Amino acid sequence: MRTRKAQDPPDVLVVGGGIIGLVTAWRAAQRGLATAVADPSPGGGAAHVAAGMLAAVTELQYGEQTLLDLNLASAARYPDFVAELTEATGLDTGYRTCGTLAVALDADDRARLRELHAFQTSLGLESTWLSGRECRRLEPLLAPGVRGGLRVDGDHQVDPRRLAAALLRAAQLAGVTFLRAAVARMVCRGDRVTGARLTDGTEVSAERTVLAAGSESGRIEGLPPDVLPPVRPVKGQVLRLRVPAARAPFLSRTVRAVVRGSDVYLVPRENGELVLGATSEEFGWDTTVTAGGVYELLRDAHELVPGITELPLTETLAGLRPGSPDNAPLLGPTALPGLVAATGHHRNGVLLTPVTGDVLADVLDNGELPDYARPFTPVRFDRTHQAHQAHQAHQAPEVREEQPA
Ligand code: GLY
Repeated sequence: MRTRKAQDPPDVLVVGGGIIGLVTAWRAAQRGLATAVADPSPGGGAAHVAAGMLAAVTELQYGEQTLLDLNLASAARYPDFVAELTEATGLDTGYRTCGTLAVALDADDRARLRELHAFQTSLGLESTWLSGRECRRLEPLLAPGVRGGLRVDGDHQVDPRRLAAALLRAAQLAGVTFLRAAVARMVCRGDRVTGARLTDGTEVSAERTVLAAGSESGRIEGLPPDVLPPVRPVKGQVLRLRVPAARAPFLSRTVRAVVRGSDVYLVPRENGELVLGATSEEFGWDTTVTAGGVYELLRDAHELVPGITELPLTETLAGLRPGSPDNAPLLGPTALPGLVAATGHHRNGVLLTPVTGDVLADVLDNGELPDYARPFTPVRFDRTHQAHQAHQAHQAPEVREEQPA
């Protein structure tokens, strides 16, 4: 076997050093692949803003059962995943098995939550209906008007900043190379992607290039339009407050509600940080924290937990979720040889980090998407693929008629 030299091109170039890029690089390096990550400040990105809810059940949406399966698979991997990260790095990720309480503030919310509960139950998910009084017994600082709620003991949290720091360290320890520059454009030769040119002028060649650039993935230069992932930025404004020791425990689990049609959630960390999120705005690339965004988050959170306004406000930030047309990630080989996607995680980037690492490791190691990840192939958005699917669906009844009875 030929010995690798430091200047040899990597087997895998990961474009983007957010948590998805880092987990991909870490897992690829563990499989023995020479791996490089291109990012001016790895460990940043949307995870720096995110609250870190692992909310497969409370964030369940109608029509997204396929995504639910992937979310649940990733949630189930979390305990081993964070234990492995801590073992490898000595760093804590702030994983907390505290559960979630989703509450209703008026009769309409109550009806909506009742329906969600029936849907969850029909899918075999663990979720318990509580009266308003039972909700307040669990969380005494809830508003007196709370009309009922869902207790979901399996929806936990992790601290995404600590998770990113641990992943960065794990990747470094596993031998991943970090190229501290942004990608200016992808490089294509013939019919394949052969690497990327960085903003410092260097060109990095690699056998496989993974596009893990979060919301930027949809506007990366150098790719043919039909291969560019249909990923768009979805802005989320998030506030951080501090619970003084004298007021602790303020909340013992994540508490959330839908107020006037908008999601509001409060995620209490063990270290006294309380994360309040999040807006969901489709305003392109803007990451301004607005007076309106802060006002609405505080107003809605105050309706839920009135004591919130007495806490020190320590941080206001906005990040961009990488939204995709069906709210599900794009994972695996694209239609362009040499280019692999790990993007479009939308509201579930933190939750889907463990399973994304495992899927991408399999793809990079043996070229195949594991069966459970096939619904998330990036090719599902290709026009030729969609036409083929439509044709198959049209043909199906005739094929069935030819089957023996
Ligand atoms: N998953 C929470 C959010 O995207 O706001």
